[in-house]
Amino acid sequence: MTRFPKSPAMSCAPPAQYHALDSSSTGELAAQARAGLLSQPAAVSPKFFYDALGSRLFEAITELDEYGLTRAEAAIFDAHGAVITEAARARIGRPFDLVDLGAGDCAKAARLIPLLQPSRYLALDIATEHLRPALQRLQAAHPQLPMLAIGTDFSERLALPRTLCPGPALVFYPGSSIGNFDPEAALRLLAQARELAGSGALLIGVDLVKGQAELEAAYDDALGVTAAFNLNLLRHLNRLIGSDFDPRQWRHLARFDAARSRIEMHLLAREDLTVRWPGGQRHFAAGESIHTENSYKWTLPDFAALLRDAGWREPRHWCDPAEGFAVVLAS
Ligand SMILES: C[S@@+](CC[C@H](N)C(=O)[O-])C[C@H]1O[C@@H](n2cnc3c(N)ncnc32)[C@H](O)[C@@H]1O
Repeated sequence: MTRFPKSPAMSCAPPAQYHALDSSSTGELAAQARAGLLSQPAAVSPKFFYDALGSRLFEAITELDEYGLTRAEAAIFDAHGAVITEAARARIGRPFDLVDLGAGDCAKAARLIPLLQPSRYLALDIATEHLRPALQRLQAAHPQLPMLAIGTDFSERLALPRTLCPGPALVFYPGSSIGNFDPEAALRLLAQARELAGSGALLIGVDLVKGQAELEAAYDDALGVTAAFNLNLLRHLNRLIGSDFDPRQWRHLARFDAARSRIEMHLLAREDLTVRWPGGQRHFAAGESIHTENSYKWTLPDFAALLRDAGWREPRHWCDPAEGFAVVLAS
């Protein structure tokens, strides 16, 4: 497998363009974080994991023995990448934009761009301090391909102005991030993606239901990298809302809720404590939790039904040999 080199950008590369949408404004995100801390029980969106360190810790998670998801997805593209991309191009049938939701380090798009040959690459992410240098490196490798980094929070609404994305789009949403949305919110996001794609298509990664022990280990690894990723959210909140969280007073918990088919991640207070921020505070009793992430695991029939309900047609999927992960194409 060829990995995209993280070399410094070549000086002759055109600068990758950047556009910020209102949805990613710091004030709006801070208001949501404060509201989540004050809710009963406390819950904040997993989008708050992704500051500069959180984005790097996520990349470290993908290297862990316990976290097979990224390797399973890579194995699918290694085995079927040419067929998948040919099928996507055939469905769209004319020049299209590649729209990457939560592009992160853009590594997955980097592998697909030579096969897909899009007219433009639009990389959307809430964590723009990580996205922008990654996109600049990719731009250096493809100086002729117009690229645009877009700062946005698509959990509120996924939509792009026509001036930014006028034509058909292949909406690319790998890594099973769709699992962070409960079924109702996933339906809403996929319906918005349908509208965004126009006469284009969707290429999406989905983590499938598997054994509890395997799932819980994937979110609670022996090295404590996922724990650090979860705890780092507190430092991110400290910067965002001026709170005084001390990560040492909290511990990581990951558990599989079989009835809801989801991994939950929580931060549990190790002792009675009060967290303060300008204009607010919250007392946490020992053992009380901040719910930081859900990661829903799907069966293929249920996910196909979700896609249909969101307006997507003719889903076709490819699985890894263990059938723990699927890449789905729909139009
Ligand atoms: C699990 S990582 C996946 C990164 C990469 N696409 C992959 O599959 O390896 C999730 C990415 O989505 C971004 N993200 C999370 N929530 C988001 C939101 N609400 N709006 C925009 N980007 C978001 C994060 O910053 C991060 O880069």
